Amino acid sequence: MPRSTEKIPPVAPAEFQRTLLAWYRTNARPLPWRQSASLYKTVVSEFMLQQTQVKTVLPYFARWLFALPDFGALAAASEAEVLKRWEGLGYYSRARNLHRLAREIVSRPVIPRTPAEWRELPGVGPYTAAAITSIAFGETAACVDGNVVRILARLTADSTLFRDSSAAAKAFAAPAAALLSRENPGDHNQAMMELGATVCLRQNPLCLTCPVRPHCAAARRGEPEKFPRLAPKQIEQQHVTRVWCERDGALLLHRAAADARRFANIHELPSAEHAGLDHARAARGELLARRRRGITRFQITESIHLAPPPRRKLHPELVWIALRDLETISLSGPHRRWVTEILAGRKGQSRADT
Ligand code: ADE
Repeated sequence: MPRSTEKIPPVAPAEFQRTLLAWYRTNARPLPWRQSASLYKTVVSEFMLQQTQVKTVLPYFARWLFALPDFGALAAASEAEVLKRWEGLGYYSRARNLHRLAREIVSRPVIPRTPAEWRELPGVGPYTAAAITSIAFGETAACVDGNVVRILARLTADSTLFRDSSAAAKAFAAPAAALLSRENPGDHNQAMMELGATVCLRQNPLCLTCPVRPHCAAARRGEPEKFPRLAPKQIEQQHVTRVWCERDGALLLHRAAADARRFANIHELPSAEHAGLDHARAARGELLARRRRGITRFQITESIHLAPPPRRKLHPELVWIALRDLETISLSGPHRRWVTEILAGRKGQSRADT
């Protein structure tokens, strides 16, 4: 039995494309990487937008372009500067890959153009390669991410149950390519992203104002939210005990090694293990903060306890950072927030005590 997505395109692609592009031309948000677009702006925005929403990216993008306006400036920057400017956006391997990519681009006599060539560059997967090359060079490569999957699954009322979002993206690669405008693939891809972000919402989609509603099987059935069908994520609870340890105006922090897979050269409050304490011992210290956050399928509870300075030799990845220098180093986003909150709470406390 062929899957219903194989019936795509549900309507004449030409008509779908015309309607979508006309809608995009009058409704596209004036995003800074769309105005006087350049390859550099496209690349930086696509890296920042991987797993991050437009509204979060906007201030980072503006500061980045001001400080590092082109591939040459980025290639010449130090890794510490690049990480500092990325601080708070998360998924720091993106920053490191973007930096390596800039160095690669400036070293080449010819800038790569095809999706296959871009896929060989650091940090560029199929989505990013399709986005960059369609927008910057008009290559006919279709972007498929969660937004596009949602639109296509609804257009066709595809009731396949997908194991996860990457299985769904693979399944919709061919239909997305079949629907792509050959004349204007860059705008088509951006129009699909825009439709997914502003109209074809996961919950409460705005079907009444949707330009491609006449093509949509799920809207016709009155049940757009039923598509796509994804197996529920298995949420796993994790608990992390961290320590807050100060000595002579300096704070003890963990800095992952330069070759670490995640968080290389990024500072965080040390876990009890890194500080050489077992959980029970660390948890006896005064609780300064307890915070919960979700990362992919993990629900993580982090408890930060006051601890005395370690007596044994420090773990090689632990460093003392003077409190007055905290602004100059790269802390991961949540840790920057917690450190700021704890220091502010302490200041308030000492004012109240005097
Ligand atoms: N998400 C990924 N790429 C995007 C783009 N170019 N515009 C808006 N959202 C996006």
